[in-house]
Amino acid sequence: MDWGFKNRLNKVLPGISSGKGSVMFAIDHGYFMGPTSGLENPVQNIVPLLPFADSLMLSRGILNYSIPNDISTPIVLRVSSGNSILNEDMSNEKLCVSLEEAVRMNVSAVAFSIYVGAEHEHQTLTEFSKLVNEAHSLGIPVLAVTAVGKDMARDLRYLSLASRIAAELGADIVKTYHCEDFDKLVDSCPVPVIIAGGKKISELDALKLAEKAIKDGANGVDMGRNIFQAQDPMKMIKAVRSVVVDGNSSMESYSKFLED
Ligand code: R5P
Repeated sequence: MDWGFKNRLNKVLPGISSGKGSVMFAIDHGYFMGPTSGLENPVQNIVPLLPFADSLMLSRGILNYSIPNDISTPIVLRVSSGNSILNEDMSNEKLCVSLEEAVRMNVSAVAFSIYVGAEHEHQTLTEFSKLVNEAHSLGIPVLAVTAVGKDMARDLRYLSLASRIAAELGADIVKTYHCEDFDKLVDSCPVPVIIAGGKKISELDALKLAEKAIKDGANGVDMGRNIFQAQDPMKMIKAVRSVVVDGNSSMESYSKFLED
C-alpha cells in the first residue's frame, strides 16, 4: 500500500501507530433510520463534539449540507445504502456513492455494509469486493460494516465469520459487535477491528462495553447512539475517549463524567 493509503488509515485510526485505541464517531444512522433522535441538528449537536473524535462516519448528504467544511476531523464516508427500517430484510444494499465523489469530498476512508447469512449476502459481498478494487486503486482504505442475517445470533460464531470474510475480501478495518470471547474474533481477523456501540444503554454500561472491547483487543470503537443520545453527549464522548484512548477504567471515566 502506498503512502497516501497509510496516511489516511492512520488518520482514521490514529491508535494504530500510537498503540492506543481510537474513537470513530458514527452519525450515519439516518441513511436507513430516517430522523434519528440526537441527529436533528448536526451543526448544533455534533460539530462541538468533533474535537474529541478521531474520525467521523456519516453519509454524503449530511456531510455536504450539515457539516462545515473547515473541520479537520477525518471523514469516513458511508457509500452503501438502498434499504430502510420499513423493510423486514435489511440486506438489500448496494454501492450508491461513487469513489470520484468520495475523493472530491476529501474523505479518509469509505464504509460499506456486508450482510453475511442474509438474503442479499452475495450482492453485498461482491459489491464490497469491487469497492475494494476501486478504493485501493485510489489509496482509500475501506471499512467493512459487518451485519449478520436477522435470524442469526450476534455471537462469536457468526460475527467472526462475517469479520474474517470481510478481511479476506480486502477490508482494511472491520466494524462488528462485541460478543462473548471477542478476543477470539480479534485473533482470527488480520485487520483492525472496531466495535459498534449498538442501541442506547446506560452511560456506565456503554463505557464498560468500550473497556471490555479494548481489553479484548479491539482497535477502538465506532460509537454513535451511546454518544449522541447520551444525557450529556459532550461529557459522554470525553468519557469514551478517556476509556478508549487514555486507557482509564470505565468506573473512573464514569465518575469524572458525573463530576464535570
Ligand atoms: C449502523 O448501521 C451504522 O453504521 C452505525 O454507524 C453503527 O451501528 C454504529 O453506531 P451505534 O454505536 O449507534 O450502533
